[in-house]
Order: sequence, then C-alpha cells, then structure tokens
Amino acid sequence: MSKSIVVIGSSNIDFIMKMDHLPAQDETVTGAVFMQTFGGKGANQAVAAGRAGGDVTFVNCVGDDPYVERMLAGFQESGVKTNTIYHETGISSGTALVMIGEGGHNYLSVAPGANGWLTPERIDAVRDLIADAAYVLMQFEIPPESIARALDIAAEEDVPVVWNYAPANSFDISQLSKVSIVVANEPEASKLTGVTVTDIASAKDAAHKLRDLGVDTAIITLGNAGSVVATVETSDRVHIPAFPVEPVDTTAAGDTYCGCLVVALAEGKPLVEAVRFASAGGALCVQRMGAQPSIPWRKEIDTFLKAYSSI
Ligand code: RIB
Repeated sequence: MSKSIVVIGSSNIDFIMKMDHLPAQDETVTGAVFMQTFGGKGANQAVAAGRAGGDVTFVNCVGDDPYVERMLAGFQESGVKTNTIYHETGISSGTALVMIGEGGHNYLSVAPGANGWLTPERIDAVRDLIADAAYVLMQFEIPPESIARALDIAAEEDVPVVWNYAPANSFDISQLSKVSIVVANEPEASKLTGVTVTDIASAKDAAHKLRDLGVDTAIITLGNAGSVVATVETSDRVHIPAFPVEPVDTTAAGDTYCGCLVVALAEGKPLVEAVRFASAGGALCVQRMGAQPSIPWRKEIDTFLKAYSSI
C-alpha cells in the first residue's frame, strides 16, 4: 500500500520581527529582533512531514528571485522531493511579513507572488502523482480554483485529502464532501461553520457541523487547550489535551501539526494517536523561533512523546 504524501501548496520567504509588544497604529516599536527564514503554509507542512519521516513530494510554484536556490535546498535537506516545483519567471516567490509580540503570538501578512501561478492546469499535470498517494495535504494559500481541481482529482482517484483551512478565505462549502479530514483552528472553524469557537464545547459543536457538511473527520485545534476530533466512526467528539510547553513563537505550529498528522496517518496510526503525534510536533515547534527553523525532526518528536507519556 502507498505511503506517499503529496503536499500541494504555497512557499514563502518570511521576514520576521520579534518585539516585546506589537505597534499600535502610527506607533514605532524599536529594539526588535529580525530574522529571514523560509515559510509558507504548504512548504512548512511539507518540511514537517519530511522531517517527521514521511515520503513527501511538494507541488508548488516559486519565482525567479535570489532566495529560490536556498529555499529548495532546505526542502531537500528535510527529505522533501522537489521535482514538481514549478518555476515562474518575472515574479517573486511568495513573501510574508511576520510580527511576533507578547506570548509568541504572530501577526501575518502574505504577498502570494508565484504561489498565484500554481494554476489548475499545473495541478492537472500531477494527476498521476496524486493518484499514487496515500494522502494529499493542502492548505488555502494557493488559488481556490487550484484547490478545487486538486479536490476533484483526488476524489476521482479515491485518494483521501487532509485540508488545513488556513488562512480562512471564502470557500464553496459544498466542496467539503470531497475532503476526508479538515483541520482548522478557532477562527478558521468559526468562519467555516458559523459556530463561534471559543472553547472545547463550542469546538465540539463546530466539529459536529463539519461532519454534517460532509467531511469524514473534523479536527479543531485550540492552541494550549488541545484538539477536538469528530469522525464518522466515533459518534461522540473526542478532546485530546495539548502538551504544556512555554511558547516563544507560534509561527508554523499549525503547519507542523498538519505535516506530522499526515505522516502518522500514512504510517497507519489510529487517529487519536496521530493527533497526539501532531500535537507533539506543534509543541516542539512553538518553543523555537521562525517557521522552518523551528520544525522538529522525527527523533525529537519520539523523544518528546516518551517524556510526556503520561499526558
Ligand atoms: O503558517 C505560518 C506561515 O504562514 C508562515 O511561514 C508564512 O509564510 C505564512 O504563510
């Protein structure tokens, strides 16, 4: 049986400023620490899956800026296959401005750049790759019509799709019936379902609604309050606690979670165990700065899970 994972999504060059408080309108905050790293929700998830030990191919589009070579080398060092990364000329790769304030929370703005050139036709061109995959993993930083095309192809080829509804954008919810597993945080789940998610109880309601909308499994992530999971198999909705760690930067924590989740599922782990594995990946990520530099390797995740076996 195939264990391969196809990640379809964005890559960005991240410019990060960490400061002790975020500026108010017209305020200048000095004394920030600057970092340039590689990010993008698709790329982060591919890197997380690669470092967690998955057999991963990344479908993406980069521009012709001077960062590209280093970015692709980073993917390869993380075990990600890059032969389906398109190169678009006359445009920059995706770019993100990240401001990190108190508690490690981040504020993000993204210029899609070449990510907008990951067109439906380019998704068509990787149909065979999708058809051979155990899982397709997607987010929402590429054109909606390309996501729709990937969902159609995966449905036709009977390949399960794990879809991280991030960032939350307008979406035709009838498409949810083609999604096997939706992963969303509180604001994303609220936008997708109309249920205001603020705690475990409201997350359970939103997860139930997502099931009604046609997804097999809904996973709602609640930061330090853990995850809520609702599946076809379990009539009840399960809450899985988070690991108690001190965050310094939450950037890419959700991406790490998704990449690790899919690796665990492709290895045949039961869903609740896969969610624990994903939470461990996310807990390690938030303790370090930056997107891809903070994504853990498999050995670290296994060691962490042993250390926290009582949770
Ligand atoms: O999820 C974190 C990512 O969101 C960052 O790496 C940034 O590039 C944006 O895509």
